[in-house]
Amino acid sequence: MKSVLLLLFLSVLSLLSLSRRAEGIRWLSLSSTAEHVNKTQQCKTMQGLVSSQVQLCRTNLELMHTIIQAAREVKKTCQKTFVDMRWNCSSIEAPKYLPDLERGTRESAFVYALSAAAISHTIARACTSGELRLCTCGPIPGEIPEPGYRWGGCADNLHYGLLMGSKFSDAPMKMKKKTGSTANKLMHLHNSEVGRQALKDALVMKCKCHGVSGSCSIRTCWRGLQDLKEIALDLKAKYLSATKVVHRPMGTRKQLVPKDIDVRPVRENELVYLQSSPDFCTKNEKLGSVGTQERQCNKTSSGSDSCDLMCCGRGYNPYNEKVVERCHCKYHWCCYVTCKKCEKMVEKYVCK
Ligand SMILES: *[C@@H]1O[C@H](CO)[C@@H](O)[C@H](O)[C@H]1NC(C)=O
Ligand SMILES: *[C@@H]1O[C@H](CO)[C@@H](O)[C@H](O)[C@H]1NC(C)=O
Ligand SMILES: *[C@@H]1O[C@H](CO)[C@@H](O)[C@H](O)[C@H]1NC(C)=O
Repeated sequence: MKSVLLLLFLSVLSLLSLSRRAEGIRWLSLSSTAEHVNKTQQCKTMQGLVSSQVQLCRTNLELMHTIIQAAREVKKTCQKTFVDMRWNCSSIEAPKYLPDLERGTRESAFVYALSAAAISHTIARACTSGELRLCTCGPIPGEIPEPGYRWGGCADNLHYGLLMGSKFSDAPMKMKKKTGSTANKLMHLHNSEVGRQALKDALVMKCKCHGVSGSCSIRTCWRGLQDLKEIALDLKAKYLSATKVVHRPMGTRKQLVPKDIDVRPVRENELVYLQSSPDFCTKNEKLGSVGTQERQCNKTSSGSDSCDLMCCGRGYNPYNEKVVERCHCKYHWCCYVTCKKCEKMVEKYVCK
Protein backbone atom coordinates (compact mmCIF):
# COMPACT_ATOMS: atom_id res chain seq x y z
CA MET A 1 0.00 0.00 0.00
CA LYS A 2 2.73 2.42 1.01
CA SER A 3 4.67 1.83 -2.20
CA VAL A 4 1.57 2.39 -4.32
CA LEU A 5 1.04 5.71 -2.62
CA LEU A 6 4.68 6.58 -3.12
CA LEU A 7 4.41 5.71 -6.78
CA LEU A 8 1.31 7.87 -7.10
CA PHE A 9 3.09 10.70 -5.35
CA LEU A 10 6.09 10.41 -7.63
CA SER A 11 4.02 10.37 -10.79
CA VAL A 12 2.07 13.45 -9.68
CA LEU A 13 5.42 15.10 -8.99
CA SER A 14 6.72 14.31 -12.44
CA LEU A 15 3.47 15.53 -14.01
CA LEU A 16 3.88 18.78 -12.15
CA SER A 17 7.42 19.25 -13.36
CA LEU A 18 6.32 18.49 -16.91
CA SER A 19 3.67 21.16 -16.78
CA ARG A 20 6.31 23.58 -15.54
CA ARG A 21 8.33 23.10 -18.67
CA ALA A 22 9.61 26.31 -20.21
CA GLU A 23 8.23 28.16 -17.22
CA GLY A 24 10.42 31.18 -17.79
CA ILE A 25 8.81 31.93 -21.09
CA ARG A 26 5.27 30.73 -20.52
CA TRP A 27 3.98 34.28 -20.19
CA LEU A 28 4.25 34.37 -23.98
CA SER A 29 1.05 32.34 -24.10
CA LEU A 30 -0.66 35.63 -23.18
CA SER A 31 -0.45 36.22 -26.93
CA SER A 32 -3.61 34.14 -27.30
CA THR A 33 -5.50 36.03 -24.59
CA ALA A 34 -8.40 37.73 -26.26
CA GLU A 35 -9.99 39.29 -23.24
CA HIS A 36 -9.73 42.81 -22.03
CA VAL A 37 -8.00 42.76 -18.65
CA ASN A 38 -9.81 45.16 -16.42
CA LYS A 39 -10.40 43.23 -13.19
CA THR A 40 -7.76 41.98 -10.76
CA GLN A 41 -9.65 38.68 -10.48
CA GLN A 42 -8.68 37.94 -14.06
CA CYS A 43 -4.97 37.79 -13.14
CA LYS A 44 -4.99 34.37 -11.51
CA THR A 45 -6.94 32.76 -14.34
CA MET A 46 -4.54 33.97 -17.02
CA GLN A 47 -2.52 31.29 -18.73
CA GLY A 48 1.20 30.95 -18.21
CA LEU A 49 1.85 33.29 -15.29
CA VAL A 50 3.90 32.27 -12.24
CA SER A 51 2.72 33.48 -8.83
CA SER A 52 4.93 36.59 -8.75
CA GLN A 53 3.68 37.57 -12.19
CA VAL A 54 0.10 37.17 -10.99
CA GLN A 55 1.01 39.55 -8.16
CA LEU A 56 2.49 42.05 -10.64
CA CYS A 57 -0.66 41.74 -12.73
CA ARG A 58 -2.80 42.61 -9.69
CA THR A 59 -0.76 45.65 -8.77
CA ASN A 60 -0.18 46.86 -12.35
CA LEU A 61 -3.40 45.90 -14.06
CA GLU A 62 -3.07 48.78 -16.48
CA LEU A 63 0.13 47.26 -17.84
CA MET A 64 -1.40 43.92 -18.82
CA HIS A 65 -2.84 45.07 -22.11
CA THR A 66 0.66 46.19 -23.13
CA ILE A 67 2.24 42.93 -21.96
CA ILE A 68 -0.28 40.90 -23.98
CA GLN A 69 0.67 43.02 -27.00
CA ALA A 70 4.35 42.33 -26.28
CA ALA A 71 3.73 38.57 -26.24
CA ARG A 72 2.11 38.85 -29.68
CA GLU A 73 5.02 40.92 -30.96
CA VAL A 74 7.54 38.31 -29.75
CA LYS A 75 5.80 35.53 -31.62
CA LYS A 76 5.32 37.50 -34.83
CA THR A 77 8.81 38.98 -34.86
CA CYS A 78 10.55 35.71 -33.99
CA GLN A 79 8.78 33.88 -36.81
CA LYS A 80 9.49 36.63 -39.33
CA THR A 81 13.13 36.84 -38.36
CA PHE A 82 13.61 33.09 -38.78
CA VAL A 83 11.53 32.55 -41.89
CA ASP A 84 14.71 31.73 -43.84
CA MET A 85 16.13 29.28 -41.29
CA ARG A 86 15.50 25.60 -40.60
CA TRP A 87 14.35 26.44 -37.08
CA ASN A 88 11.46 28.79 -37.82
CA CYS A 89 10.39 29.66 -34.29
CA SER A 90 7.38 27.38 -34.39
CA SER A 91 8.31 26.47 -30.81
CA ILE A 92 6.45 29.42 -29.35
CA GLU A 93 3.17 28.49 -30.93
CA ALA A 94 1.22 28.68 -27.66
CA PRO A 95 0.14 26.80 -25.72
CA LYS A 96 2.36 23.89 -26.73
CA TYR A 97 5.89 25.03 -26.11
CA LEU A 98 8.32 22.66 -27.67
CA PRO A 99 11.01 21.25 -25.38
CA ASP A 100 13.81 23.07 -27.19
CA LEU A 101 12.86 26.21 -25.31
CA GLU A 102 13.70 24.80 -21.91
CA ARG A 103 16.63 22.63 -22.90
CA GLY A 104 18.94 25.63 -22.85
CA THR A 105 19.67 25.71 -26.57
CA ARG A 106 20.82 28.54 -28.79
CA GLU A 107 17.19 28.91 -29.91
CA SER A 108 15.95 29.41 -26.37
CA ALA A 109 18.73 31.97 -25.92
CA PHE A 110 17.28 33.99 -28.79
CA VAL A 111 13.69 33.69 -27.56
CA TYR A 112 14.54 34.83 -24.02
CA ALA A 113 16.59 37.77 -25.35
CA LEU A 114 13.88 38.82 -27.78
CA SER A 115 11.15 38.47 -25.15
CA ALA A 116 13.03 40.63 -22.65
CA ALA A 117 13.69 43.27 -25.32
CA ALA A 118 10.11 43.17 -26.62
CA ILE A 119 8.34 43.59 -23.29
CA SER A 120 10.44 46.65 -22.39
CA HIS A 121 10.14 48.00 -25.93
CA THR A 122 6.35 47.75 -25.89
CA ILE A 123 6.04 49.35 -22.46
CA ALA A 124 8.41 52.21 -23.41
CA ARG A 125 6.37 52.89 -26.55
CA ALA A 126 3.09 52.68 -24.63
CA CYS A 127 4.37 55.43 -22.30
CA THR A 128 5.04 57.63 -25.32
CA SER A 129 1.66 57.06 -26.89
CA GLY A 130 -0.13 57.94 -23.67
CA GLU A 131 -1.69 54.53 -23.14
CA LEU A 132 -0.37 54.23 -19.60
CA ARG A 133 -1.22 56.57 -16.77
CA LEU A 134 1.86 55.70 -14.71
CA CYS A 135 4.45 56.94 -17.17
CA THR A 136 4.96 59.65 -19.74
CA CYS A 137 7.68 60.68 -22.19
CA GLY A 138 11.28 59.87 -21.42
CA PRO A 139 13.57 62.65 -20.10
CA ILE A 140 15.07 65.30 -22.37
CA PRO A 141 18.80 64.59 -22.72
CA GLY A 142 21.18 66.83 -20.78
CA GLU A 143 23.56 67.64 -23.61
CA ILE A 144 22.76 70.33 -26.15
CA PRO A 145 22.34 69.04 -29.71
CA GLU A 146 24.13 70.48 -32.74
CA PRO A 147 23.13 73.91 -34.09
CA GLY A 148 19.91 73.74 -36.08
CA TYR A 149 18.66 70.91 -33.88
CA ARG A 150 16.61 71.18 -30.72
CA TRP A 151 15.11 68.70 -28.32
CA GLY A 152 11.37 68.33 -28.45
CA GLY A 153 8.76 65.73 -29.10
CA CYS A 154 8.23 62.77 -26.82
CA ALA A 155 11.12 60.43 -26.10
CA ASP A 156 10.43 56.73 -25.64
CA ASN A 157 10.51 56.02 -21.90
CA LEU A 158 13.17 53.34 -21.95
CA HIS A 159 13.82 53.67 -18.22
CA TYR A 160 10.24 52.74 -17.28
CA GLY A 161 10.13 50.06 -19.97
CA LEU A 162 13.25 48.39 -18.63
CA LEU A 163 12.11 48.68 -15.02
CA MET A 164 8.68 47.13 -15.46
CA GLY A 165 9.61 44.81 -18.31
CA SER A 166 12.45 43.13 -16.44
CA LYS A 167 10.35 42.85 -13.25
CA PHE A 168 7.76 40.90 -15.19
CA SER A 169 9.79 38.79 -17.59
CA ASP A 170 12.58 37.88 -15.14
CA ALA A 171 10.13 36.92 -12.38
CA PRO A 172 10.03 33.18 -13.19
CA MET A 173 13.83 32.92 -13.00
CA LYS A 174 13.96 34.77 -9.69
CA MET A 175 11.49 32.59 -7.82
CA LYS A 176 12.73 30.94 -4.65
CA LYS A 177 11.16 27.61 -5.60
CA LYS A 178 13.57 24.90 -6.61
CA THR A 179 12.22 24.23 -10.07
CA GLY A 180 14.47 23.93 -13.07
CA SER A 181 18.23 23.89 -12.88
CA THR A 182 20.28 26.81 -11.64
CA ALA A 183 22.36 26.71 -14.80
CA ASN A 184 19.25 27.17 -16.95
CA LYS A 185 18.04 30.07 -14.85
CA LEU A 186 21.43 31.77 -15.04
CA MET A 187 21.44 31.26 -18.77
CA HIS A 188 17.95 32.73 -19.21
CA LEU A 189 18.74 35.70 -16.99
CA HIS A 190 21.97 36.40 -18.87
CA ASN A 191 20.30 36.20 -22.28
CA SER A 192 17.42 38.40 -21.12
CA GLU A 193 19.99 40.99 -20.10
CA VAL A 194 21.63 40.73 -23.55
CA GLY A 195 18.21 41.42 -25.06
CA ARG A 196 17.77 44.51 -22.90
CA GLN A 197 21.27 45.71 -23.82
CA ALA A 198 20.35 45.38 -27.51
CA LEU A 199 17.27 47.45 -26.75
CA LYS A 200 19.37 50.16 -25.06
CA ASP A 201 21.61 50.24 -28.13
CA ALA A 202 18.50 50.77 -30.27
CA LEU A 203 17.67 54.11 -28.64
CA VAL A 204 18.57 56.56 -31.39
CA MET A 205 18.06 60.21 -32.21
CA LYS A 206 15.01 60.79 -34.38
CA CYS A 207 14.21 64.18 -35.89
CA LYS A 208 11.42 66.00 -37.64
CA CYS A 209 11.99 68.88 -40.06
CA HIS A 210 10.50 72.33 -39.67
CA GLY A 211 10.97 75.47 -41.65
CA VAL A 212 9.54 77.26 -44.65
CA SER A 213 8.23 74.75 -47.21
CA GLY A 214 10.26 71.84 -46.00
CA SER A 215 13.55 73.74 -45.87
CA CYS A 216 14.44 71.89 -42.69
CA SER A 217 16.11 74.91 -41.12
CA ILE A 218 15.15 73.62 -37.70
CA ARG A 219 14.94 70.02 -36.63
CA THR A 220 13.08 68.88 -33.55
CA CYS A 221 14.65 65.75 -32.15
CA TRP A 222 13.96 63.15 -29.50
CA ARG A 223 15.32 59.80 -28.41
CA GLY A 224 13.25 57.06 -29.99
CA LEU A 225 13.57 53.30 -30.17
CA GLN A 226 14.15 51.49 -33.43
CA ASP A 227 11.49 49.00 -34.43
CA LEU A 228 11.55 45.61 -32.77
CA LYS A 229 12.40 43.89 -36.05
CA GLU A 230 15.71 45.80 -36.17
CA ILE A 231 16.50 44.66 -32.65
CA ALA A 232 15.54 41.11 -33.63
CA LEU A 233 18.04 41.21 -36.51
CA ASP A 234 20.75 42.33 -34.11
CA LEU A 235 19.86 39.45 -31.80
CA LYS A 236 19.80 37.02 -34.72
CA ALA A 237 23.42 37.92 -35.46
CA LYS A 238 24.18 37.26 -31.78
CA TYR A 239 22.29 33.95 -32.06
CA LEU A 240 24.50 32.89 -34.96
CA SER A 241 27.65 33.64 -32.97
CA ALA A 242 26.37 32.46 -29.58
CA THR A 243 28.82 30.90 -27.13
CA LYS A 244 28.42 27.47 -25.57
CA VAL A 245 28.92 27.64 -21.82
CA VAL A 246 29.19 25.30 -18.86
CA HIS A 247 28.20 25.85 -15.24
CA ARG A 248 31.32 25.43 -13.15
CA PRO A 249 33.20 26.96 -10.23
CA MET A 250 34.94 30.19 -11.12
CA GLY A 251 36.41 32.06 -8.19
CA THR A 252 34.19 31.51 -5.19
CA ARG A 253 30.92 30.69 -6.99
CA LYS A 254 29.62 28.47 -9.76
CA GLN A 255 29.16 30.52 -12.89
CA LEU A 256 28.55 30.18 -16.59
CA VAL A 257 31.87 30.15 -18.41
CA PRO A 258 32.68 29.53 -22.08
CA LYS A 259 33.20 25.84 -22.72
CA ASP A 260 35.93 25.71 -25.32
CA ILE A 261 37.73 28.99 -25.42
CA ASP A 262 40.40 29.98 -22.94
CA VAL A 263 39.28 31.01 -19.50
CA ARG A 264 37.35 34.24 -19.62
CA PRO A 265 34.08 35.39 -18.16
CA VAL A 266 30.99 35.47 -20.36
CA ARG A 267 30.68 38.79 -22.20
CA GLU A 268 27.76 41.10 -21.56
CA ASN A 269 26.74 41.25 -25.20
CA GLU A 270 26.96 37.59 -26.19
CA LEU A 271 24.15 35.08 -26.13
CA VAL A 272 25.02 31.85 -24.34
CA TYR A 273 23.63 28.33 -24.42
CA LEU A 274 24.18 25.09 -22.52
CA GLN A 275 23.00 22.43 -24.95
CA SER A 276 23.73 21.90 -28.60
CA SER A 277 20.75 21.97 -30.94
CA PRO A 278 19.70 19.27 -33.36
CA ASP A 279 20.08 20.15 -37.06
CA PHE A 280 16.27 20.63 -37.29
CA CYS A 281 16.20 18.66 -40.54
CA THR A 282 13.85 15.93 -39.42
CA LYS A 283 10.91 15.81 -37.08
CA ASN A 284 11.83 14.92 -33.52
CA GLU A 285 9.25 15.80 -30.93
CA LYS A 286 11.48 15.07 -27.98
CA LEU A 287 14.02 17.60 -29.18
CA GLY A 288 11.40 20.11 -30.30
CA SER A 289 12.25 19.87 -33.99
CA VAL A 290 9.40 20.06 -36.51
CA GLY A 291 11.67 19.27 -39.45
CA THR A 292 11.82 21.09 -42.77
CA GLN A 293 9.50 18.94 -44.86
CA GLU A 294 7.07 21.17 -46.79
CA ARG A 295 9.10 24.29 -45.97
CA GLN A 296 9.51 26.75 -48.79
CA CYS A 297 13.02 27.15 -50.13
CA ASN A 298 14.74 29.48 -52.57
CA LYS A 299 16.39 27.87 -55.60
CA THR A 300 18.60 30.85 -56.43
CA SER A 301 19.68 31.79 -52.93
CA SER A 302 23.01 30.65 -51.54
CA GLY A 303 22.05 31.36 -47.93
CA SER A 304 20.24 29.44 -45.24
CA ASP A 305 16.98 29.53 -47.24
CA SER A 306 18.56 27.83 -50.26
CA CYS A 307 16.92 24.57 -51.26
CA ASP A 308 20.18 22.78 -50.56
CA LEU A 309 20.51 23.88 -46.95
CA MET A 310 16.83 24.15 -46.07
CA CYS A 311 15.98 20.69 -47.40
CA CYS A 312 19.11 19.07 -45.92
CA GLY A 313 19.94 17.44 -49.27
CA ARG A 314 16.60 15.61 -49.54
CA GLY A 315 15.60 17.54 -52.65
CA TYR A 316 12.54 19.67 -53.31
CA ASN A 317 9.28 19.74 -55.23
CA PRO A 318 8.31 22.61 -57.52
CA TYR A 319 4.79 23.96 -57.61
CA ASN A 320 3.13 26.84 -59.38
CA GLU A 321 1.47 29.66 -57.54
CA LYS A 322 -0.70 32.35 -59.01
CA VAL A 323 0.34 35.82 -57.92
CA VAL A 324 -1.52 39.03 -58.61
CA GLU A 325 0.59 42.08 -59.46
CA ARG A 326 -0.04 45.67 -60.36
CA CYS A 327 0.80 46.22 -64.03
CA HIS A 328 0.30 48.55 -67.02
CA CYS A 329 0.54 51.49 -64.67
CA LYS A 330 -0.26 54.89 -66.11
CA TYR A 331 0.58 58.28 -64.71
CA HIS A 332 -2.19 60.84 -64.92
CA TRP A 333 -1.52 64.59 -64.79
CA CYS A 334 -1.78 65.56 -61.96
CA CYS A 335 -1.09 63.55 -59.69
CA TYR A 336 -2.20 59.99 -59.58
CA VAL A 337 -1.36 56.60 -60.99
CA THR A 338 -3.74 53.91 -62.16
CA CYS A 339 -2.77 50.29 -62.58
CA LYS A 340 -4.34 47.11 -63.80
CA LYS A 341 -4.12 43.80 -62.01
CA CYS A 342 -2.27 41.05 -63.81
CA GLU A 343 -2.08 37.43 -62.85
CA LYS A 344 1.19 35.64 -63.18
CA MET A 345 2.29 32.10 -62.47
CA VAL A 346 5.51 31.76 -60.50
CA GLU A 347 7.37 28.58 -59.73
CA LYS A 348 8.01 27.94 -56.05
CA TYR A 349 9.70 25.11 -54.22
CA VAL A 350 9.06 23.11 -51.09
CA CYS A 351 11.34 20.62 -49.40
CA LYS A 352 10.72 16.90 -49.81
C1 LIG B 1 -14.23 45.07 -18.84
O1 LIG B 1 -14.10 44.30 -20.03
C2 LIG B 1 -15.31 43.78 -20.53
C3 LIG B 1 -15.00 43.00 -21.78
O2 LIG B 1 -14.28 41.85 -21.50
C4 LIG B 1 -16.30 44.90 -20.81
O3 LIG B 1 -17.53 44.34 -21.24
C5 LIG B 1 -16.49 45.75 -19.60
O4 LIG B 1 -17.29 46.87 -19.91
C6 LIG B 1 -15.14 46.25 -19.07
N1 LIG B 1 -15.33 47.00 -17.84
C7 LIG B 1 -14.74 48.18 -17.64
C8 LIG B 1 -15.02 48.80 -16.32
O5 LIG B 1 -14.04 48.73 -18.47
C1 LIG C 1 7.51 26.27 -39.52
O1 LIG C 1 7.77 25.06 -40.16
C2 LIG C 1 6.79 24.06 -39.95
C3 LIG C 1 7.30 22.78 -40.60
O2 LIG C 1 7.48 22.93 -41.96
C4 LIG C 1 5.46 24.54 -40.48
O3 LIG C 1 4.47 23.57 -40.25
C5 LIG C 1 5.07 25.84 -39.79
O4 LIG C 1 3.88 26.37 -40.33
C6 LIG C 1 6.18 26.87 -39.93
N1 LIG C 1 5.86 28.02 -39.10
C7 LIG C 1 5.94 29.26 -39.55
C8 LIG C 1 5.55 30.32 -38.63
O5 LIG C 1 6.31 29.54 -40.68
C1 LIG D 1 15.69 34.09 -53.60
O1 LIG D 1 17.04 34.48 -53.38
C2 LIG D 1 17.50 35.49 -54.26
C3 LIG D 1 18.99 35.66 -54.00
O2 LIG D 1 19.25 35.79 -52.63
C4 LIG D 1 16.67 36.77 -54.03
O3 LIG D 1 17.12 37.77 -54.90
C5 LIG D 1 15.20 36.44 -54.28
O4 LIG D 1 14.40 37.59 -53.99
C6 LIG D 1 14.74 35.28 -53.43
N1 LIG D 1 13.38 34.89 -53.80
C7 LIG D 1 12.40 34.76 -52.94
C8 LIG D 1 11.08 34.30 -53.48
O5 LIG D 1 12.55 34.98 -51.76
